[in-house]
Amino acid sequence: MIKIKNVTKKVGAKVILDDITLDIEKGTLVVLIGSSGCGKTTTLKLINKLIKPTSGEIYIDDKPISKENTIELRRKIGYVIQNTGLFPHLTIKENIELIPRLKKEKTIEEIEKTTIELLEMVGLKYEDYIDKYPSQLSGGQQQRIGVARAIATDAEIILMDEPFSALDPITRTSLQEQLFTLQDELKKTIIFVTHDMDEALKIADKICIMDSGKVAQYDTPENILRNPVNEFVKNFIGLDRVWNNPEYIKAKDIMIKDPVSVKPSRTIIQGIEIMRTSKVDSLLVTDKNHKLEGIVTVKDMKSNISKSQSLGSIMSSEVLVVKEDDNLVNILSIMNERSVGYIPVVTDEYKLAGLITRSSLLSVLSEQFLEMEVSVLG
Ligand SMILES: Nc1ncnc2c1ncn2[C@@H]1O[C@H](COP(=O)(O)OP(=O)(O)OP(=O)(O)O)[C@@H](O)[C@H]1O
Ligand SMILES: [Mg+2]
Repeated sequence: MIKIKNVTKKVGAKVILDDITLDIEKGTLVVLIGSSGCGKTTTLKLINKLIKPTSGEIYIDDKPISKENTIELRRKIGYVIQNTGLFPHLTIKENIELIPRLKKEKTIEEIEKTTIELLEMVGLKYEDYIDKYPSQLSGGQQQRIGVARAIATDAEIILMDEPFSALDPITRTSLQEQLFTLQDELKKTIIFVTHDMDEALKIADKICIMDSGKVAQYDTPENILRNPVNEFVKNFIGLDRVWNNPEYIKAKDIMIKDPVSVKPSRTIIQGIEIMRTSKVDSLLVTDKNHKLEGIVTVKDMKSNISKSQSLGSIMSSEVLVVKEDDNLVNILSIMNERSVGYIPVVTDEYKLAGLITRSSLLSVLSEQFLEMEVSVLG
């Protein structure tokens, strides 16, 4: 949908953007994030042709925008400008309806109906605001009008430059939710600029972390958290970030690999001996292909009188398992709900991959917190 290809922007000798290449797929929400002055606003301005690149090209639907009519292009794009950018001499209603009325794709009645809906969506009462001028509104209210106006254009592309930055945390959270819901429904292509990593993680399909005019990493939130490409990204997201987002922690990150497992043909006597020497109180039973067949606990073994029976004949084959990619939140809730102290982890083919126990969880978590403390001290 939007392709930024080897774009460099210089002002005099100063390099503002240094060879940026980004591919933004249709219907996705991409967050641009980075420290102040790294070039986020400049990137949006280039897409909207407010400024021209020094070299490189931007394509929208495979057409180079340098060759497109600027006015036409801007009508395809809704733009929430940093610090609102409402027209001061127009009322709120006129501000929101300006582009839809220019486009003439909808009747006046349809446009007005949309305006009411949009104001409601951003949490403002129609009657109270419609005839006011931007200067009569607070900064946060103006930002909300800016968001409503960008959506009102019906544009396929929306550029949002720190649209929620002047809002209190509660309004901000509610607008993030609304944006997410709206995006789920409308599937616009949105480029959203923010300073706030938590905001980015809540709404982004992909995050582009920028560092002094360069792309440091462009990836899904999950990959950025799990595999930051360098120290800059690591520091930027913060060490505790992954642990504040337990849905990104997977079973495979916390499981004990190579848990003790036995073949079903083992006898109870052998099983007890294996348990004793490996200091565990249950055994996972796997077949020759390492597929999980069942589980035997020390209790099952002790209650069986004939100790020469095979483990296969006494094991319980209904084992609660999780997949390697199940996340910590799910795993903890399963362990709590079913009050189990351990849970085997299997691959998609049901092969035994690992085991999560309460103590393995505890040791992984405490190691993480130690690491955090060390990095704070050091
Ligand atoms: N017209 C200009 N002339 C000279 N330098 C400029 C111009 N516009 C922007 N810059 C510089 O380019 C760099 C990037 O600016 P930009 O506004 O894109 O940053 P940003 O990432 O949006 O920052 P912020 O988070 O503070 O909004 C800054 O160092 C800025 O001072
Ligand atoms: Mg900016």
